[in-house]
Amino acid sequence: MKTYLVTGGAGFIGTNFIRHSLTVRPDWRIVNLDALTYAGNPASLEDLPPDQAERYRFIHGEIFNFSLLDSIFSEEDFSGVIHFAAESHVDRSILGPEAFVKTNVEGTFRMLDAALRFWRNKGNPEQFRFLHISTDEVYGSLGPEGYFTEQTPYDPSSPYSASKAASDHFARAYFRTYGLPTLITNCSNNYGPYQFPEKLIPLMLLNIKEEKSLPVYGDGRNVRDWLYVIDHCDALIRVLEKGKQGETYNIGGGAERQNIEIVHLLCDMLDRRLNRSGKDSSRRLIQFVSDRPGHDRRYAIDSTKIRQQLGWAPGYNFENALEATVDWYLEHMEWVESVRSGNYRKWIELNYLNRS
Ligand code: NAD
Ligand code: TYD
Repeated sequence: MKTYLVTGGAGFIGTNFIRHSLTVRPDWRIVNLDALTYAGNPASLEDLPPDQAERYRFIHGEIFNFSLLDSIFSEEDFSGVIHFAAESHVDRSILGPEAFVKTNVEGTFRMLDAALRFWRNKGNPEQFRFLHISTDEVYGSLGPEGYFTEQTPYDPSSPYSASKAASDHFARAYFRTYGLPTLITNCSNNYGPYQFPEKLIPLMLLNIKEEKSLPVYGDGRNVRDWLYVIDHCDALIRVLEKGKQGETYNIGGGAERQNIEIVHLLCDMLDRRLNRSGKDSSRRLIQFVSDRPGHDRRYAIDSTKIRQQLGWAPGYNFENALEATVDWYLEHMEWVESVRSGNYRKWIELNYLNRS
């Protein structure tokens, strides 16, 4: 049995990763350290089947709490760390950047430092990996041509992407300076079940269902490269098991779409399910609102390295996986209600108040 420490496992990608890896890796145990911020929901993991639940342990705490980290690392013999925990929403980083520095920069530094102490005392240090999950947003914005490769210089635009860039630099420095076997992945926008409804896809699909306005920033022509979360989880397992320490791997879905195309698709998918047509069709809810400051125009990943060196490729078709995502939300409205606390409502008001 191998035991992995997952941070941020109660969030969107972490939840999918834990559920998926406990299924496809029956010899894994997972310890999940999560602070349960607004974005973390332990209910997302409460219904694990019994054989998986016994391989799962939850610890409530902050990744920047170094005495907690030392006690966790002294209790367990980890084969690796999969570090997801972060503040992850660009709009929130614009309105309040400090939490992003605290968790993404200081928190990652504390995680690396605790892992280094553990790794140095580990009986079999060659059996340990620290996988740091990052984003393509560290590379900045593309024009209509070209792709991000692992060699693209860092050029972050938002406090979120700046804090992720800083955390990547620390992960790389801990490999080069101390030999800690780190791996970094930079991936494109994920979608799928359990995503908090502040991000484009779940926000729009729930607003469509509830006949609320659909706030499209700027001209709606910004492009993102969409990756189904389970394809991302498969890529992460592959990097953890087969990746070369000290290396970076870009992970992309190869599904570039303009935001307005996504909103149109979601309107049409929900119209079919809710029998709306003609003047009732959901596209009437679209409202172009003022742009996000520093809004990156286009992200697109060149995944040649992970495809060629590790044999990974995305398996899900974008439109089919988006349909499945829509169905998941419609069938899990109790989950949606459970994450929409009073704080969520306040945030939605604050973010959209002056956008017209
Ligand atoms: P999320 O916001 O849904 O979840 C983040 C989780 O981290 C939550 O469970 C939260 O409670 C936890 N957390 C936050 N601060 C913490 C702290 N101080 N200590 C412990 N736990 C804390 O995020 P996500 O979308 O699942 O993203 C996971 C990772 O993947 C992040 O590092 C993000 O930068 C990266 N990423 C996400 C995307 C995407 O499209 N969602 C794309 C590229 C990279
Ligand atoms: P988001 O899901 O916040 O991810 P990121 O900013 O990390 O790419 O946003 C995806 C795109 O959708 C981005 O170009 C901003 C845009 N967007 C809107 O137009 N309206 C919205 O209400 C939101 C949340 C995002």
